[in-house]
Amino acid sequence: MGKIFVIIYKLMHGFHKCMKLMCQVIMNFLYRFLFKKMEGVIEDPRQLLGCEYISIGKNTKIHEGVILTAWDGYEGQQFSPSIVIGENTNIGENCHITACDRIEIGNGVLTGRYVYISDNSHGNPAHGEELDIRPSQRPLYSKGPVFIGDNVWIGERVCVMAGVKIGDGAIIAANAVVTHDIPAGVLAGGVPAKVIKMLRDE
Ligand SMILES: CC(C)(COP(=O)(O)OP(=O)(O)OC[C@H]1O[C@@H](n2cnc3c(N)ncnc32)[C@H](O)[C@@H]1OP(=O)(O)O)[C@@H](O)C(=O)NCCC(=O)NCCS
Repeated sequence: MGKIFVIIYKLMHGFHKCMKLMCQVIMNFLYRFLFKKMEGVIEDPRQLLGCEYISIGKNTKIHEGVILTAWDGYEGQQFSPSIVIGENTNIGENCHITACDRIEIGNGVLTGRYVYISDNSHGNPAHGEELDIRPSQRPLYSKGPVFIGDNVWIGERVCVMAGVKIGDGAIIAANAVVTHDIPAGVLAGGVPAKVIKMLRDE
């Protein structure tokens, strides 16, 4: 009897996988018309917003459960957002990338799961008078664009905050919160992220 359940489970699992793959192929065909540029693949995303402001390069894979939001308006404000992801880049499962200004991710980048990359916040924390407004209703504020260079490796659960530049080939250790620029070719980690060591002989 148990064997029958195993067979049914395997059949259902296979069927589910096939259906998922078929939907993915159809959705990725549609993305080519919805996105500014789409030459990669997105697996079953959690949320997509402002696809017309998002470019994804050749051979780039956006894994399952990712949230990609480019906000051109929020509570009456207007923005010209852009998210540009280069070629041969891998964005891990359940990452969240959100822009009202600009986020650029280079070629050959690898991110772990649950990475958060944002160029904006609910209100400007320097404006104390906003504290009487519900956070969700505070004006969206960008401290500046985010640039992530080529061949950067970003570990699991890293947060990359607004106005930050990460240089080519840098490695950002798991759980880091990047609040300032990180130079090329270094290992950085911690909260807030600091250079731990240089990875190239100068
Ligand atoms: C960054 C990383 C690659 C470093 O690996 P490593 O070469 O074995 O590291 P080292 O042992 O040389 O560490 C160097 C220093 O960085 C520190 N360090 C390593 N990882 C750290 C982290 N996540 N946060 C803070 N400090 C860290 C170490 O404690 C060590 O400090 P010390 O010299 O004072 O002891 C690894 O720790 C890491 O975070 N990998 C990410 C893995 C991941 O998220 N994968 C997702 C799949 S893509």
